[in-house]
Amino acid sequence: MKAFIAANWKMNKTVSEAREFLKTFIPLVKGVSDVDIVIAPPFISLAAASEEMKGSNVQLSSQDVFWEEKGAFTGEVSPQMLLDAGCKHVIVGHSERRQYFHEDDGVVNKKIKAARKAGLDVIFCCGESLQEREAGKTFEVIQREVEKGLVDVGPDHLVVAYEPIWAIGTGKTATPEQAQEAHAFIAGMLAGVYGNKSGIIRIIYGGSVTPDNVDTLMGCKDISGALVGGASLKPDSFSRIVHFKKEK
Ligand code: PGA
Repeated sequence: MKAFIAANWKMNKTVSEAREFLKTFIPLVKGVSDVDIVIAPPFISLAAASEEMKGSNVQLSSQDVFWEEKGAFTGEVSPQMLLDAGCKHVIVGHSERRQYFHEDDGVVNKKIKAARKAGLDVIFCCGESLQEREAGKTFEVIQREVEKGLVDVGPDHLVVAYEPIWAIGTGKTATPEQAQEAHAFIAGMLAGVYGNKSGIIRIIYGGSVTPDNVDTLMGCKDISGALVGGASLKPDSFSRIVHFKKEK
C-alpha cells in the first residue's frame, strides 16, 4: 500500500511563510513517488499553496470544512470552495476541533459526508485522551468515534488517522506497540464494516511524530503513514519524515 504522510500545520504560518516553506520543501521531495505527500495549511494559505504545488508531487489538504454548500454561515468554508482552491483532501474530526470547537461525532459525520459528496478525500481522525486510556477505555472510545463518524460513509477516498490525544504536541509518542495495537483494532473494525474493501483504507498514526521515531512507527504492520504537526513546520524535518526508512 502506498504510504500517506500528511502535514497538519494547524494555526501556523502566514501566506508568505507558506510560500517560502513550499519553495524550499518541494525540491527536497522531488522524485518521491511511493508516498502520498500532503500538506494542510490554514484556509487563508490554500490558494497560494496550491499555486506553489502546481506540477509537483505534493498534494493540498484543508484542516476543516463545513457541511453546507453555501449560504448564511458566517466564517465557514464549503467543500466546493476547498476544491476550487485546489484541495484534494480535508482533515475531519481532529481532536482539537472536537475539544475547542465542540465538534461531536454527529458533526464529524456530517462534514465527512459533505466532503465526500463534493469529491474531496477525507482524513478522518480518532483517538483517546489520557484520562480515557488510563480508565481502560481506549478501544471503547475508538470504536465509538469510528462507528459514529463513519455512518453511511464508504471505504473509498478515506484515510483514518489514529491520534492519541495525549501524544499530540506533547513530545510523548505512543510506543510502536501501543500504536500498532490501536491500528490493528481499527483495521479489524473497518474489516467488520467494509469486508475486503477495507484493505484500501490507509490507517496513519499522529502524535509527536518526528524524524527520530518515524522509521520505527512506519515499520509497524498496520501503520501506513503519519499525520505530523510540529515536525512538519520545517522543510528539512518534514522531508526527512517523507523519506522514512521502515525499521522493524
Ligand atoms: P503533533 O500533532 O505532531 O504536533 O503531535 C499531530 C496532529 O495533531 O495532527
